[in-house]
Parts: sequence; structure tokens; C-alpha cells
Amino acid sequence: MQKQERQDIFKKIMGNYPTGVTIVTTTTGSGEPVGLTVNSFASVSLDPLMLLWSIDHGVSSLKEFTGGGKFAVHVLAEEQAALCKTFASKDVDRFSQCDWKMSANGLPIIDGAFGVFECETFQAIEAGDHTVLIGQVIDLSVNEEKDPMLYHRRVFGAIPEEFYRQKHPVS
Ligand SMILES: Cc1cc2nc3c(=O)[nH]c(=O)nc-3n(C[C@H](O)[C@H](O)[C@H](O)COP(=O)(O)O)c2cc1C
Repeated sequence: MQKQERQDIFKKIMGNYPTGVTIVTTTTGSGEPVGLTVNSFASVSLDPLMLLWSIDHGVSSLKEFTGGGKFAVHVLAEEQAALCKTFASKDVDRFSQCDWKMSANGLPIIDGAFGVFECETFQAIEAGDHTVLIGQVIDLSVNEEKDPMLYHRRVFGAIPEEFYRQKHPVS
């Protein structure tokens, strides 16, 4: 199989793997907020609390994220689709399009997410055209009144009610 065909199949499988959506933020050396939309997010460890995501080497804020500092992962709520697009679009002043504040840890925190993890970088591992960032959680919060966003085949939205009426619960 040719490289292109293998990449197409890889993208087809990954694009059909349902995920949530996050926005990951940090600051520049001069304290300006930066961030991007991310769905490569995953859980790593419970003790201590660790998570990971991967950043494309073409991202404009690459050095801010791989510099070994802190970052915040926002697990988006179902109604935050517009924000999800904003943080994946060029030529937009992303932080003027949302309400946010600086946390005690010096991280830009966007209002209205389902959950937020504030992390210290534990390890940055270069892997192909991405760097995997493993974060150790230093602070976290959840908004129990919100529901998370679902992302599948380039569509963002709420998890449909009928999904929970199916007969295959884990326990
Ligand atoms: C649903 C979704 C998931 C994404 N996941 C990632 C990701 O995991 N890692 C990444 O580097 N870019 C990811 N991107 C792309 C970036 O959000 C996008 O390229 C962004 O514009 C990069 O920031 P920049 O414009 O400052 O370079 C994703 C985009 C979308 C819409």
C-alpha cells in the first residue's frame, strides 16, 4: 500500500473515532494568552493525575507550549461550538471572542467549559510531526450543570438523548 493511501485510511479511522473537544491555553513570555482547539486529548494517570495531548509542529504557539511551562485544558460544553471554531481559525483575535480570566496559576481560563485542568508540563515527547505533551494536573474543576460537546466526522454538537436510551451500559 502506498504512503498516501495509508495516510488516507489513517485519517478515515481517526476522523470516525468520536471524541470530545478541548481548548488548550497558555501564555507567551510577555503574558499574552494563546490557545488552540484540540481533540488529541486523553487521560494518562490517576495517581498522580496526568493527561496528554499532542501539538502539530506547525501551530503558531508551538514554542509557548513545548517550553516546559504550564497549560490549561478546557473540556468544552455542548453549547461552545462557536468557540471551538474560533480557536481553530486563523486571523481571529481568539481571546476577544470569549470571556476569560487569568487564574492564580497564571493561566488563561475560558468561562463556560464543562471541565478545566490546569497542568504543569511533565514531559514533552517529539513524535513525528507532533509533540506529545504530558501534563501533571495542579488544579481542576467541573461544572456539573453542563454537558460535554461531542465531535464526530467534523461535526460538533450535543450528545443525543437517545444515545443514553440504548441497552449497552458499561455497568
Ligand atoms: C476538532 C479539532 C481538533 C483539533 N485537534 C488538534 C490537536 O489535537 N492538535 C493540534 O495541534 N491541532 C489540532 N487542531 C487544529 C488547531 O486547532 C488549528 O490548526 C489551530 O488553528 C492551530 O493554532 P494556530 O492557528 O495558532 O497555529 C484541531 C482542530 C479542530 C477543529
